[in-house]
Amino acid sequence: DKDKQQQQSLQKNKEGKIKETKITEECNLENKEKGKETKIDKQNRSNGDGNTNKEDKKNNNKERYNLNHLERRPAIFVGIKRDSKIQKARLKLPILAEEQQIMEIINENSIIILAGETGSGKTTQVPQFLYEAGYALEKMIAVTEPRRVAAISMSKRVAQEMSMTSKEISYLIRFEGTVTDQTKIKFMTDGVLLKEVQTDFLLTKYSVVILDEAHERSVYTDILIGLLSRIVPLRNKKGIPLKLIIMSATLRVQDFTENVRLFKVTPPLINIDARQFPVTVHFNKRTNENYLQEAFIKTSKIHKENSEGGILVFVTGQQEVNMLVKKLRNAFPFRNKYKFETQNEKEINDDNRDEENINLQKRLRKKKTKIIPEINLDDYSLPGDNEDSENEELNSDEEFETEMTVVSNNSQPLWVLPLYSMLPSHKQAKVFQPPPPGSRLCIVSTNVAETSLTIPNIKYVVDTGKTKMKLYDKITGVTSYIVTWTSKASASQRTGRAGRMGPGHCYRLYSSAVFNDIFQDYDTPEIQQKPVDDLYLQMKCMNIDKVANFPFPTAPDMLQLKMSENRLTTLGAIKDNRVTPLGRAISKFPVLPRYGKMLALSHQYELLPYTICLVAALSVQEVLLENPIGQTDSEEVKNVRQKWISLRRQWAGTGNFLLLGDAMVLLKAVGAAEYANSEGKLEKFCIENGLRYKAVVEIRKLRIQLTNEIKTNMPEIDIVVDPKLNPPTDLQAKLLRQIMLSGMGDQVAKKITPDELKDGEERRKYKYAYHANNMEEPVYLHQGSVLRKNLPEYVIFQEIYETNKMYMRGVTAIEPEWLPIYVSNLCNLDRPLTEPEPFYDVNSDKIFCYVTGTFGSQNWPISNVKVE
Ligand code: CDP
Ligand code: MG
Repeated sequence: DKDKQQQQSLQKNKEGKIKETKITEECNLENKEKGKETKIDKQNRSNGDGNTNKEDKKNNNKERYNLNHLERRPAIFVGIKRDSKIQKARLKLPILAEEQQIMEIINENSIIILAGETGSGKTTQVPQFLYEAGYALEKMIAVTEPRRVAAISMSKRVAQEMSMTSKEISYLIRFEGTVTDQTKIKFMTDGVLLKEVQTDFLLTKYSVVILDEAHERSVYTDILIGLLSRIVPLRNKKGIPLKLIIMSATLRVQDFTENVRLFKVTPPLINIDARQFPVTVHFNKRTNENYLQEAFIKTSKIHKENSEGGILVFVTGQQEVNMLVKKLRNAFPFRNKYKFETQNEKEINDDNRDEENINLQKRLRKKKTKIIPEINLDDYSLPGDNEDSENEELNSDEEFETEMTVVSNNSQPLWVLPLYSMLPSHKQAKVFQPPPPGSRLCIVSTNVAETSLTIPNIKYVVDTGKTKMKLYDKITGVTSYIVTWTSKASASQRTGRAGRMGPGHCYRLYSSAVFNDIFQDYDTPEIQQKPVDDLYLQMKCMNIDKVANFPFPTAPDMLQLKMSENRLTTLGAIKDNRVTPLGRAISKFPVLPRYGKMLALSHQYELLPYTICLVAALSVQEVLLENPIGQTDSEEVKNVRQKWISLRRQWAGTGNFLLLGDAMVLLKAVGAAEYANSEGKLEKFCIENGLRYKAVVEIRKLRIQLTNEIKTNMPEIDIVVDPKLNPPTDLQAKLLRQIMLSGMGDQVAKKITPDELKDGEERRKYKYAYHANNMEEPVYLHQGSVLRKNLPEYVIFQEIYETNKMYMRGVTAIEPEWLPIYVSNLCNLDRPLTEPEPFYDVNSDKIFCYVTGTFGSQNWPISNVKVE
């Protein structure tokens, strides 16, 4: 049926094209006339796009866009059958009124910037406009998202709006996807597209690339902008044109438009006027440090006292979300007498059920009429962002309270839902559904809800003003998570969430002084905040000679680039500013270069199944939970923790197993989880043994992906992966320690000798040997490490993080005689390894030599070390 429809419309277009050539030429001359046409067109659309009226449908197909004057692009209309309800919702989106203008500009230009308020319909609608205009007839339409959540949920939404399947409107993220050869629109994470550039520099599969959420300034999107600024002209030159659409919220667009190195000609900027209602901003008089408590109080108050409308609360992380959701649900239990309660909610609300129920029934019977606000909220609304501090003071909390007490004692049930990026997608989908009738929606979210997802019907925003950041010290390589103030730009984005349905209110749980004096204007682009090793290597593989000269929208710190270059040189991925064969092999794996090297080396040892498992486990964050259940130390919790600690010790084993350290625990944990999974008890197993369930699921996916990657890239290796990995042998455990050293040679630490130790000092003290920074500060073995009792003399670690001290996380023991072989680039030997006189050792039946020299920047001596 669809095919028939398409053919028909194509036929119509052919006819239309001939007829309309003359007319459109006139149109070009007479702008007035054109303006008229636009209006008519709009009218047509709003009447009949639901495909109900035959007459309208005809008109629509023919005069869909006034594009016929453009020789390059014939007007093509590919029909979509839309559900009438969905069509109605679409027509309310501000972007729909601009469809014609947007499509004309896209047709006339190769590179376009499209800025619009969050929720104006960019992500869901622009791909559909392009599809209807025929851009997916021969090649695909690509849409990149910095967040996995967005790639998945947007592809599903668009498929639903277009009444098409996930085979046609698909997504692809690191671990999974639904892409087929029927795919027309492909949503993917920006990292995925960047990998594709590496194998197909001209991106020949696509007719359009949309880089969505460019304002988030994710590293990969930034690099893609730089790359596409060069790819688009190349494609045009070759006669296979490519369109680039950069979409962003209305934030600091000038980084793209005013960057002379980026685009030769400044691309046109389309601004979507969103219908944004005024939002009144209320600052707290004082800033309370305990922002979670404050958020709880404020939300409760809004619920009790303010008129109808959803509440959206911003906190910093998954744990905080869950805590606050629990607290709010306890305070306002949702009653199960509503028939719409589902099984899931039933579980949540099992507590406090009966008594509450009876009370509610009584109250509902009493309350006959709805409480309606008696004041007009418009009267004291402030437009826009409230940059004017005087006005903000006028709207301070106190004044607000006195006025709002008019509306009091709302006894509506509160429908509380969590939202964060790791939340399973069926639970995520709930936030888009209306709350059960008669209840108020309350969503507690991380900054996912700031721009990537728009939740309908929010009237109140509670903003803690906080955000969680992974800080990375450029020089020391130390990472730490800190909760800090967000920027003014994100505070205003958060505020904006309240003004989509009507006038709203935003409660900022901090003072205007804090906002004015401490908040930065904008968030720092990610590229200036994290190590860029993998990017540097990928760019080298694309034969970009001078990475420092790349047209970055915002350039990374030059020192940081230098550090990446150093680390890659240490790994042997780069030599004399060129990528080595090892570097190319490393870059094929979708993991950090140091882990890529471990994979590339281990096939020689037939260790691949173990390395894959280890690398997968190391690449996923927070696999082993530090604290298995909650925060409070009840007897029960203590018992569980005790059991869990002894299990880890048991997992660690003895001999080479124990020396493999925390990596061994990971290997065993993954293996054990696989057994549990085969019995259908994975989730239970994870909870009981202090493993993060989602992390374990990700590790499983990554293992499969890495295995497939190896099968494609190294067909000569015959690799069979049994998910239920048998534990390694003692010899394999030793080889694994060496392989880990080969990837982490820049992260070696040496125990401080007893005589160096001051009186009463902790024994777990180590020195750090990284050559590129003379970090003097000691590092410590963490309590949670299984090696904390053995304290091996030399260790490698996965990362250093800082709390009150610098701690090494993920520790494995190594032997000093391995350094000249596996970290040769950091060794300064008196004679090259090939030169010392080798000798044969009868006992071990091996050939050895003695080497002398130093290791690392602190010149740790290597004297007469026996090397195999
Ligand atoms: O990309 P932009 O922020 O401009 O807007 P969008 O994500 O395309 O969202 C347009 C509208 O679709 C919003 O009003 C969303 O609430 C709605 N939407 C929805 O109802 N369900 C979804 N799964 C996704 C979006
Ligand atoms: Mg969007």
